[in-house]
Amino acid sequence: MKCQRDKFSLQRKISYLNGAYMSPLLKKVEKAGIKGLIQKRKPFHISPAAFFKETEVLRNLFGQLINSSESARHVIIPSVSYGIENVVQNLEKKKGNIVMAAGQFPSNVYPWSSRANYQLKFVAAPTGGKNLGVSWNERILAAIDDQTAAVSIGQVHWVNGIKFDLTAIRQKTRAVGAALIIDGTQSVGALPFDVQAVQPDALVVAGYKWLMGPYSIGMAYYGEMFDQGTPIENNWMNRQGSDQFSGLTHYEEQFLPGALRYEVGEHSNFILVPMLIAAIKQLLKWTPLGIQQYCETLCHDTIETLRSEGYTIEATEGRASHLFGIYFNENTTMERIEQALSKHRVNISVREKALRISPNVYNDQKDVQRLLSALKEAII
Ligand SMILES: Cc1ncc(COP(=O)(O)O)c(C=O)c1O
Repeated sequence: MKCQRDKFSLQRKISYLNGAYMSPLLKKVEKAGIKGLIQKRKPFHISPAAFFKETEVLRNLFGQLINSSESARHVIIPSVSYGIENVVQNLEKKKGNIVMAAGQFPSNVYPWSSRANYQLKFVAAPTGGKNLGVSWNERILAAIDDQTAAVSIGQVHWVNGIKFDLTAIRQKTRAVGAALIIDGTQSVGALPFDVQAVQPDALVVAGYKWLMGPYSIGMAYYGEMFDQGTPIENNWMNRQGSDQFSGLTHYEEQFLPGALRYEVGEHSNFILVPMLIAAIKQLLKWTPLGIQQYCETLCHDTIETLRSEGYTIEATEGRASHLFGIYFNENTTMERIEQALSKHRVNISVREKALRISPNVYNDQKDVQRLLSALKEAII
């Protein structure tokens, strides 16, 4: 794939290597949002059917991205914390340990930690040594036992992109009767994810990072475990027959099938939904694998050079290519690095002790060369 920068409105003077913070807007996505916004100038053109049509398109497109054909299991959510809260309130095992990676994003921590019936079991990353991913995964597997109610984890760690071995974790969770809950926010869209292969009980994804959508809309997948659950809100649209606007006060007890009971109120958002549709359509053309390969090729030589300069970066096999951490030692300081990045106009994030680099198909060699120049310059 060649660089896709022309599909975005990024300025050349800043090198944006920070998709893990939020993606820039695709021109197509921006256009879809503007169209959605001005549509309300003429509300008489918005039919009751329109409340249900585009959302189904979105559910299907998300399904294509994660290899799931059951659109009634794909629901629109406003945030990860919302999607996880629905999980926590309806998990099959009502008590036990929740195994998670240390330093996990709080949206996948607070919903669990606020419950007295669940105890958090954080698995620390090993310190030092090469191939941290391998030993971290071993530790996670060892932490799963018959006291485990769920493993609730990312596909990659949001700080350093280390990949978690979801297939092995699924096997172990099944063996002990625990659920597998995945926060795919920092991977789905840019890294292949296959629901049929992993068979998670739930997958929750914010839309504004690797799905390239706008803020305040995301997608979740809920498996059979949640089919009879109680949603955290009682939205009227999630009841059967709600598309018949003339009969809405024939109050209906039955929910729509599958997981649709968990959809956020007013999910037929006429601005955000078309934007996320446009974004996922583009991702399906590029494909997550294509994005990984692009990022791997883009950064390969720079990573090698940075290693030779004394920076530490996880081996390729153990981490994502669209998101990785760079760690430094005594030969520089965070202050020097931040100054150099600012001078070279490189935008990345600092998370914990890592410089989090998260490129995408809009980046080119010029961006990574600037990063390299800045990090070389920062060395004392
Ligand atoms: C791994 C991960 N999950 C979730 C989120 C966002 O969560 P929420 O949608 O609850 O704000 C982020 C944001 O940085 C994240 O990195």
